[in-house]
Amino acid sequence: MVSKIKKIKKIKKFIVTSALPYANGDVHVGHLLEHIQTDIWVRHLRSSNHEVLSFCADDAHGAPVMMKAEEMGIKPIELIDKVRLDHIASFKKFGIHYTNYHSTHAEENKKLSIEIYKAAKDKGFIYKKEIKQCFDEKKGMFLADRYISGECPKCSALNQYGDGCDSCGSTYSATELINPISSLTNTTPSLKVSEHIFFDLNKAKDKLKSFLKSASIQKPIVSKLSEWVDGELKSWNISRDAPYFGFSIPDEKDKFFYVWVDAPIGYLASAKNWASKNNIDIKTLWGKNSEYEIHHFIGKDITYFHGLFWPALLNTSQYKLPDSIHVHGFITVNGQKMSKSKGTFITADQFAKVCDPELLRYYYASKLNSKIEDIDLNLDDLSKKINSDLVGKFSNIFSRSAPFISKNKNFLGENLDNQIFNKSIIKASEVLKLVEIKEFSKALKLIMEIADNTNKYINEKKPWKLDNKEAVIIATTAINIFKNLCILLHPIIPNICSKMLKMLRIKSYEHNQINNKMLNIEINEFNPVISNIKSLNIQQFIVE
Ligand code: MSP
Ligand code: ZN
Repeated sequence: MVSKIKKIKKIKKFIVTSALPYANGDVHVGHLLEHIQTDIWVRHLRSSNHEVLSFCADDAHGAPVMMKAEEMGIKPIELIDKVRLDHIASFKKFGIHYTNYHSTHAEENKKLSIEIYKAAKDKGFIYKKEIKQCFDEKKGMFLADRYISGECPKCSALNQYGDGCDSCGSTYSATELINPISSLTNTTPSLKVSEHIFFDLNKAKDKLKSFLKSASIQKPIVSKLSEWVDGELKSWNISRDAPYFGFSIPDEKDKFFYVWVDAPIGYLASAKNWASKNNIDIKTLWGKNSEYEIHHFIGKDITYFHGLFWPALLNTSQYKLPDSIHVHGFITVNGQKMSKSKGTFITADQFAKVCDPELLRYYYASKLNSKIEDIDLNLDDLSKKINSDLVGKFSNIFSRSAPFISKNKNFLGENLDNQIFNKSIIKASEVLKLVEIKEFSKALKLIMEIADNTNKYINEKKPWKLDNKEAVIIATTAINIFKNLCILLHPIIPNICSKMLKMLRIKSYEHNQINNKMLNIEINEFNPVISNIKSLNIQQFIVE
């Protein structure tokens, strides 16, 4: 029977990114969904021998960062430097690592932003127009939508933000709010005219249409983006008035790039920062003829920015457009929107204090697919899943087989049951295909099926009733399949699987190791790496 994992012939090159977290707060379990999804996919590709560079950064600019620093009585630069290190440390706890984790407040990003802006300007995509905006006289600054609240102009609901109504779902401009109030000073904002710089998105329409045809993006997202492109594409205001924490726009007075201009350019800047340190030309990574496939992982709320603004900005630049955008849904906690006031807001560090971070990786993977559905972090469900899958099915295979190997001076047998081993390899190759297309939930179901079948095999063969020579064959078969489960689970729970593979004295977890049989070799004594966990409740996490 041919049941081999095919050697990957063509090594592909990938650049993979996660959205850049804002530098004004902690990493939370919502962010983690995206970084865990990205990290699993990156580890999977690397185990398949592809070359993968992963880039992220902190999104350091904009009004919220500026206000937060003011509130803390420190300079924005002090805030963003501290938060960036905190973010990196939090991600590390969850096994999340990037080839480079930069900041958007960096020299490379400034240069790239100016370069890309100038290219768009040269090609006639930029124009100026005067607009009226809400201005806080007391504070002396124009107000971002989120700092203005008032009555919805459509349904009169109270306390709605400047960009849209939570109650009736309509969107409007902040100047339309009835009885607007600035949340910074509790005063009524005035209307003030200011000249702004616009990006003519309509002019990029044809390019955007062809981008949506050629890029690999989930179908419902392409439909939504196409709807926008086919409708009236409003020009994009890319400037903000001083005071603003960001990059000055060249040849303008007191104008700064809107944070969403230099944020996606931050992906490129993170790559450039790494490339310079490694004597690589950024064009090799991101130039129009780059051999790298560029993949962005993002949440559904920032689809417009990545699906329209970002390709439109890149269009006139020297850099290539993304090959793929992967959009995920939102995390809810115990069925509720994450919110500090509702007590459903869990930071990454709070989670890691209470529970092994790898277990969250497993839980998220068990729920992730290629759809854009929201995902509920149900703490009760999490402990049940870990106990039933990882302890009851996966680890159990090794703990039940180990005693027979132990009695055999820790040596695996000279042969194994080929039939069940080969069957498991066929399933393993299905698992690899599913992970590749980001169907993690389906992949884990198949992995657990392999584990179930192996436990069933042990039950049926009853090695405890056989003489040890026969029992060793059963145990060797089970442990060989277990080795493959460790390789398959490695991208999801790398730390646990590395410890398991160490007991088996296996150093590599590359996918081409799956075909290899471990026969007649010594392994270490079994030590439980994971054990049942107690049911979790939200209060445990929130207590400081
Ligand atoms: N700074 C921008 C992204 C710029 S990318 C060029 C931003 N930052 S964010 O911190 O608000 O969000 C970062 C990512 O986390 C986004 O992809 C967002 O969708 C995701 N999530 C934030 N809260 C989330 C949940 N509750 N659930 C899942 N993902 C969530 O947007
Ligand atoms: Zn309304």
